[in-house]
Amino acid sequence: MPVVQGDLTRVEEALAASVRADDPFLTEVVSHLLSAGGKRGRPLFALAAGACAAPAITSAPNEVVMGGVAVELVHLGSLYHDDVMDEATTRRTVESVNARWGNLTAILAGDFLLARASEIAAELGTEVAALLARTIARLCEGQVLELQSTFNAVRTEEAYLQSIDGKTAALFGTASRIGAIVAGLDRTQIDALTSFGRDYGMAFQIVDDVLDLSATTEQLGKPAGHDLFEGVYTLPVLRTLANGGSAAEELRDIVGRIPSQAEVDRARDLVRDTGMVASALDTAAEFVDAACAALDTVGECEATEALAAQARLLVDSGRAAAAAA
Ligand code: IPE
Ligand code: IPE
Ligand code: MG
Ligand code: MG
Repeated sequence: MPVVQGDLTRVEEALAASVRADDPFLTEVVSHLLSAGGKRGRPLFALAAGACAAPAITSAPNEVVMGGVAVELVHLGSLYHDDVMDEATTRRTVESVNARWGNLTAILAGDFLLARASEIAAELGTEVAALLARTIARLCEGQVLELQSTFNAVRTEEAYLQSIDGKTAALFGTASRIGAIVAGLDRTQIDALTSFGRDYGMAFQIVDDVLDLSATTEQLGKPAGHDLFEGVYTLPVLRTLANGGSAAEELRDIVGRIPSQAEVDRARDLVRDTGMVASALDTAAEFVDAACAALDTVGECEATEALAAQARLLVDSGRAAAAAA
C-alpha cells in the first residue's frame, strides 16, 4: 500500500523498542514473532487513515505512527495466545512461541505485548486508551464464541460472522479509527474509516479461512488445513453442510470430531467442488464493496484510493490463490 516508506521504518523502530523488557529472556520471546515478519496490515491502515487528513499522502505525525504500533502489538499478542489455543506449531514461517517455549511462556509473553500496547495507547489519550481496551475485549469475545462452537457441525453462518467480527474485524476497525482520531479528522470521517476497517476485517478473515482450506503450509507460513483439525468450521464448510446433497452427507461424516489428514484433504476437495470456496469469496467481496462504499463519506484523496485498492486486492488475491490450489 503506498504510504511513506520512512513511516513504516518508524513503525518498525518503535515496535522493536516497545518489546524490550528488563529480562533478556522475555525480550527474546516477545521479539521472536516480531522479527519473523508479518504483513503489518494494521499499522498500514492506521497510517493510511491518518493520511486522509490531507489530499496527498505525506509523512505521518508521531501519534499516528504510535497508533499503528499499538494496534500491531495487540495483533501480535493475540497471535501468541491464538497459537496456544489452536495448538499451532508454525507462525510467520518460524516455529510458534508455544512450540518453542511452551504454553505458559507464550501466554505471559502475549500478556506483556497487550500491556505494552495499552501503555502506548494511554499516551495517545483517554479515547484511544478506552478504544484499544474495548477492542481487546471484543477480540476475547470473538475467540470465546469460536471456542463455544468448535466441532459443532450445525454452527450457523450468523454465529460464524459474529465471531469473526469480534476476533478480527474489530481490530481492523480500530486500527483505522485510531489513525483517524489522532490525525484530527472530523467525527463523520472517523466513523466512516472505522466502518471501512471493520468491513475489510470481515473480508480479511473470510479470505484467511478460505486460504486455510486451499493453500499450503509453505505458502501460508502457518499450518494449512488446521481449522478442520481444531473443529473450527468456517464459511465454506458451513455452506457445504447447509447445502445438502451427497457432499454435505459425506462432509457430515468428517466433522464433529478430530479428522485424519486424509479426511481433511477430502473435506477440502468437497468444499471446493461444491463451489462453496467461491461462494465464501463472493461474500468477502460484498464486505469489500461495503468497505469501499464507506470511503465515499471520507472524501476522495490519495489515501482513500490506496485503501480501496488494498481492499480490492484482498479478494483478487484470495480468488487467485483458490484458483491455483
Ligand atoms: C493473522 O493475521 C490472523 C488473522 C486475523 C487471520 P495476518 O494475516 O495479518 O498476520 P500477519 O501479521 O501478516 O502475520
Ligand atoms: C484469527 O483466527 C485469530 C486472531 C484474531 C488472533 P485464525 O486462528 O484463523 O488465525 P490464524 O489462521 O491462526 O492466523
Ligand atoms: Mg489460529
Ligand atoms: Mg486462520
